[in-house]
Amino acid sequence: MHAWERGLATFGPMRILITAGPTREPLDAIRLLTNRSSGQLGIAVASEAIKRGHDTTLLLGRGAHSPPSTIEACCRRFDSTNDLQSLLDETFPAADLLIMAAAVADFIPEQAPGGTKMSRHDGPVQLTLHPAPDLVATIADRKRPEQTVVGFALEPGATLTKRAIEKLSRKGLDAIVANPLDTMESSHITASLIWANGKIDTAADDLSKEAFAAWLLDRLAPAP
Ligand code: CTP
Repeated sequence: MHAWERGLATFGPMRILITAGPTREPLDAIRLLTNRSSGQLGIAVASEAIKRGHDTTLLLGRGAHSPPSTIEACCRRFDSTNDLQSLLDETFPAADLLIMAAAVADFIPEQAPGGTKMSRHDGPVQLTLHPAPDLVATIADRKRPEQTVVGFALEPGATLTKRAIEKLSRKGLDAIVANPLDTMESSHITASLIWANGKIDTAADDLSKEAFAAWLLDRLAPAP
């Protein structure tokens, strides 16, 4: 039985693993390829999980907002997709629930030879970008039956639900949070939680990320 199926009748604290914030891929010795994710939602979910007494770990991208002091102790930082993959390999086996809110790279650049710095005097530079491994799909593929894996889909509003359902099924997730693109960097969110069985829970519009975190954990990990 999945942790989320026994969710409302959970007997004790769950072991919750949350990822948040952007990956940063080196382009050369000093430059990075990254994205605008602030990590705020994952930070809010981790804060709420700790408040509820769950055993919580937050893997947070270094480019994200700093975590508040109340969650610093449960927070580990990552830079690249590869770093995040290593931390997931280490921490996921002991988790009941993974909430994968990190904005992971879709492409990893080929680095300048020898990790040197590109110079503009060398003329135009062409970047070669290789597709990144899909971390959450790999995890979902090898999870134990009682572990629950929840992904995120950040998409333009018009195609959000359709694309989120497609990602949920392609990645083999138990559920996916569908939220529109303008959530990025905003302190508020309008989102829904789509389950693998087709059920859709829709949160109230324009919740603060803290209120949305509570709404989400009511569904995934109620207080022990
Ligand atoms: N994700 C991941 N590894 C990647 C990219 C994304 O684990 N290399 C995870 C994200 O953390 C999120 C989910 O997959 O939980 C959806 O991410 P998204 O970027 O929307 O999906 P993509 O796999 O990148 O699909 P597409 O490129 O078609 O948008």
